[in-house]
Amino acid sequence: MPEQTILVTGATGTMGGAVARQLAGTGTRVRALVRDPDTATLPEGVTTVQGDLSKPGGLEPALVGVDAVFLMWPFLRSAGAGDVLDVIARHARRVVYLSAKGARPDVVDDDNPILRFHGELETAVERSGLEWVMLRPASFASNTLGWGPQFRTGVVRAPFASQPRAMVHEADVAAVAVRALLDDDLVGTRPVLTGPESLTTAEQVSVIAEQLGVAVRYEEIATEVAASNARAAGIPDDLVNALFSTDREFEPQDTTSDVEAITGRRSRSLRDWARDHAEVFVG
Ligand SMILES: NC(=O)c1ccc[n+]([C@@H]2O[C@H](COP(=O)([O-])OP(=O)(O)OC[C@H]3O[C@@H](n4cnc5c(N)ncnc54)[C@H](OP(=O)(O)O)[C@@H]3O)[C@@H](O)[C@H]2O)c1
Repeated sequence: MPEQTILVTGATGTMGGAVARQLAGTGTRVRALVRDPDTATLPEGVTTVQGDLSKPGGLEPALVGVDAVFLMWPFLRSAGAGDVLDVIARHARRVVYLSAKGARPDVVDDDNPILRFHGELETAVERSGLEWVMLRPASFASNTLGWGPQFRTGVVRAPFASQPRAMVHEADVAAVAVRALLDDDLVGTRPVLTGPESLTTAEQVSVIAEQLGVAVRYEEIATEVAASNARAAGIPDDLVNALFSTDREFEPQDTTSDVEAITGRRSRSLRDWARDHAEVFVG
């Protein structure tokens, strides 16, 4: 197949950044959609193109000559997704959508606002006429990045003590995304991407601490306290409500072997992830 051009959205963020980096490493032409090209820091070899997913009318120039799109959705509602997908479908052949483990496109008005918009996006993607792959990652290991300052105080205070998460390394999601963008065999599939083990919050803290050789303990706090801390840190209200609603039930996340089946290597552990991001927690 001739060299492809891939448009990566969210490339200044965690997943899009990892996808852009790994794609560039394959020699593929990588174009990153960014809102502000003057401030965007991107992996070597990646070119930028200005665009905003909330303004589908302005996306046309970014898509000229593009074969496939890595689509992350930065909003908590699906409004506007159909228009974005229409523009993509006028140019590209394929979309790889960054969904979430547990997304249920068949359920109308899912109680969980995050899974609700991912389900609605999956439906919109299916209707777009594009070839598609829905990536359904479990909780990102990068969700723990916010603990960096607390690690230096020796205590991590966080809610949801007893809900195990199958934390996935961004490099594993990116590796699957690259395969989904460049090869044909994953088209029409919804791989569920997890790390090798499901860990409670207390276990996550102790795994990272042990890996980095520091003494840190975990203390559970109420969801209301976590929500008010998040608001004080400037996280928008609708995201705070989605993340910390007190009546929200989380199902424990089980692990899958999809990363290994697709990439041929065992998924990276939280211990691996901590090693890769040690500077956030120590030093
Ligand atoms: N965290 C989890 O555990 C988890 C699990 C499963 C799925 N997910 C899903 O993963 C996605 C988040 O991925 P992430 O953590 O990699 O994101 P992230 O690091 O928070 O980065 C957000 C990205 O979105 C871009 N962005 C924001 N508004 C935009 C707009 N209007 N138009 C175009 N780009 C815009 C930002 O770019 P600029 O600001 O530079 O423009 C940035 O690159 C969400 O859809 C989330 O639901 C998360």
